[in-house]
Amino acid sequence: MAEVVAVLDFGSQYTQVIARRLRECEVYSKVLPFSTSAEVLKAEGVKGVILSGGPSSVFAENAPKPDSEIFNLGVPVLGICYGIQLLGTLLGGKVEHSNEREYGKGTLEITSDSPLFEGIKKTIQVWNSHGDKLTELPTGFSPIAMTENSKFAAIENSERKFFGLQFHPEVFHTEQGTDIIRNFVFSICGCSGDWTMESYIESSIAAIRETVGDKRVILGLSGGVDSSVAAKLIHDAIGPQLTCVFVDNGLLRKNEREAVKKLYGDHFQINLVVCDSEELFLTRLEGVTDPEKKRKIIGNTFIDVFESEVEKIGEVEFLAQGTIYPDIIESVPIDGNPASLIKSHHNVGGLPERMKLKILEPLNQLFKDEVRLLGKSLGLPDSVVWRQPFPGPGLAVRVLGAITKDILIVLREADAILLEEMKKADLYYKVWQSFAVFLPVRTVGVMGDERTYDNVIALRIVESVDAMTADWARLDHELLGKISNRIINEVKGVNRVVLDISSKPPSTIEWE
Ligand code: XMP
Repeated sequence: MAEVVAVLDFGSQYTQVIARRLRECEVYSKVLPFSTSAEVLKAEGVKGVILSGGPSSVFAENAPKPDSEIFNLGVPVLGICYGIQLLGTLLGGKVEHSNEREYGKGTLEITSDSPLFEGIKKTIQVWNSHGDKLTELPTGFSPIAMTENSKFAAIENSERKFFGLQFHPEVFHTEQGTDIIRNFVFSICGCSGDWTMESYIESSIAAIRETVGDKRVILGLSGGVDSSVAAKLIHDAIGPQLTCVFVDNGLLRKNEREAVKKLYGDHFQINLVVCDSEELFLTRLEGVTDPEKKRKIIGNTFIDVFESEVEKIGEVEFLAQGTIYPDIIESVPIDGNPASLIKSHHNVGGLPERMKLKILEPLNQLFKDEVRLLGKSLGLPDSVVWRQPFPGPGLAVRVLGAITKDILIVLREADAILLEEMKKADLYYKVWQSFAVFLPVRTVGVMGDERTYDNVIALRIVESVDAMTADWARLDHELLGKISNRIINEVKGVNRVVLDISSKPPSTIEWE
């Protein structure tokens, strides 16, 4: 088992970033609820504990507090932001409520030779975001750095190896922040940096085997990165005890179903059930034009199909899902946060509750790029690991208005040409997404001597880092011309191609 440092989550938007930084140091980090007991931490064999920041004030009525026994575990503790206020209130110091939040950049002056600041410049830019302020040191602590506003911006109790930082070392804007975290985990906690993908695979496989025993597991395989990596990892652990179900909802891209069958069924020899459910989905979608209605129908129909498949398989104990760490964070509904909305479409809501199966989520501590790395280490091809995102409702949200089989055929062909040209131009992996959209309008054209009155295809090609914002990709005009020509010449029923040049926001990536 890899050495682990626990990050107790007090609700900061940066908690996941702390975990991220630790992983970058090749130290396995586990984000746990703030209330996790000292006993559990002991059982985990943690080498250190980090108390994250959080939006609360320690003076609030229900201010989250850790189990006080964590201070008796004999392992180093680092309190960040809200974490330092906790050290102040729980270990005999004094914190004062301040109505003025110190937010943004500040200058930190290091005033002592603490091992936490070894190799750090004497003055660095740091990122602050806090309201309350430590005004009296907790017992046994001394100050090790200050800012203009605070003489206790960083504190230590060298005997007990407890440290507190009022600023956020984990965020990009703090200079040498990762070095500070590195000092904490290596020099102070004594970690050796043994967390590698290989060790992760080894321990995950052992954990999956132990959890599952001789029971059977079912997984809904979409062909996307997350479910594919989960499938391969679980298959490596328990082989034929895993059955993957791939639902062909009739809304897939060209050749998608065949590719999934070939890779997972034939090549990896995973038990794979392919449900041919095109008729069912398309019948239920008949005449439906509202995007959210489409999504609901598709989500519910998926559950119906999946459930009846599980019944056929018989005794199944676990439902595996490719949930990744950001899914868990982002699915916390926050008013006005578009991320929570996107995610509400993402994972098929209600499935686990309805099926009364135990949940197996072997990727739920990993970030997206770690999942890709894991996929690579497990031998998945680049075409899976670096695949562009494809929405759960598939082509349904790329056919504007009512969906018919004929329209889907047109869209599929146009989309395949676009993707083929993107790959040929070595751009497929460089953009975030590139796809075709079928517009519910017809326009006049001329082909040969004939007047045509046909469909319009829009090209949506965007660059993005996380899909929260996006911009249209400035592609070479020759390439765009070629894609347009090929679509109009090769796809029957299309006589016009247009390019979407809107950014997100205010537009979205998908058209529905
Ligand atoms: P938008 O259109 O909101 O899309 O800018 C952001 C990202 O989310 C994907 N997307 C979805 N994914 N189910 C999904 O699984 C959906 O209903 C859905 N809607 C949008 C979209 O492809 C883009 O990557």
